[in-house]
Amino acid sequence: MKQAYKIKAQSFWFSLLSGGIPIYAAPFDEKPYALSGSFNTPMDTIAGLTDWGQDINYVYGITTVIVAFVFLAVSIPLIYAIRRFRVKESDLAHMKPPKQVHGNALLEFIWTIVPVILLLFIAIPTWQIIFRQPDANHLPAGTMKIEVVGHQWWWEFRYPELGITTANELHLPENTPVYFALSSADVIHSFWVPQFGGKLDAIPGTHINHLFLTTPPLRHSGKSGGEYYQGQCAELCGLSHALMRFEAVVHGKAEFERWALAYHKPPVVETAQQKRGEQVFMQCMSCHTIYGTQSEELEKQMLAMTPPTHKAGPNLTDFGSRRTLGAGTRSNTAENFHAWVHDPASIKPGSRMVGLGLSPEDIEAVGAYLRQSTAKTY
Ligand code: CUA
Repeated sequence: MKQAYKIKAQSFWFSLLSGGIPIYAAPFDEKPYALSGSFNTPMDTIAGLTDWGQDINYVYGITTVIVAFVFLAVSIPLIYAIRRFRVKESDLAHMKPPKQVHGNALLEFIWTIVPVILLLFIAIPTWQIIFRQPDANHLPAGTMKIEVVGHQWWWEFRYPELGITTANELHLPENTPVYFALSSADVIHSFWVPQFGGKLDAIPGTHINHLFLTTPPLRHSGKSGGEYYQGQCAELCGLSHALMRFEAVVHGKAEFERWALAYHKPPVVETAQQKRGEQVFMQCMSCHTIYGTQSEELEKQMLAMTPPTHKAGPNLTDFGSRRTLGAGTRSNTAENFHAWVHDPASIKPGSRMVGLGLSPEDIEAVGAYLRQSTAKTY
């Protein structure tokens, strides 16, 4: 019922705003997808693919109509006055100052009350939508909880119910209510998947910001491998703020379950090069974890300390399946991997990851291990 009113409202604003201008752009190798309107760019803020995004669009639409009305109400009389009362050169000689008016109570009342009414038209639906966000302590049944932690300059996603931590790829089941608990390990970041709706800050310290939305259905029903949406940090957070990206990957529900199960499987190490890479990775495991290896044991020990210590770098359990490296900065190719491990700051200025001074052969080996052995099938 609530849903129906929103969809209807949205298609009205869509037709009003889109005007049929197609804009084509897509993240990486994704094919652009035409929405009901013309908005299908990866960073499109009015796609409104979630209930939350549609709520925001609803207020956005009201605001747009009101500002358009104010614009016309001011500019039409202004243009008329400029033309109608233009001074002719012949009049200049005998011109006197116009009659001075001041203290017209009726006029002052009107230009006070009209903006108040217009602002109420924006404020009331805004309040309604804010208070419709569920209380984090009383979430609807079946809500999935995800803890989002911003780091300079990458994203960590923890699924406490599944015992999984991922980085830079936010895997989600379709059509599912999700509650995001946002925090930061260092400075203020802002979590933003534009096509899902607005952005919300991830703040260091103990404060948790809450975000609740229902994930969109698969655009192509039954599509395997997930559908990708781009995310971006939206709060200036230092040197590589613009390179702090991520991707939200929406799966069919059954596929998501398989993804979660596969995530717990250890890497498949077969070739000599992969074995060598597994050895090289020992140098990486104080910062990175791969489930099913010694690095997971180390992480458990660190988390058992007081206070619990999280590893400084992204969890790499399914690195081989990820489309990007360096938090959405480059596509995950052997060439980019080599450049990244050799000198991370060459790709991401200020990167907290240090080049370990590995030989080219060791980089190739750890690349084979990470890019091949950790690729998951699900
Ligand atoms: Cu994190 Cu900008």
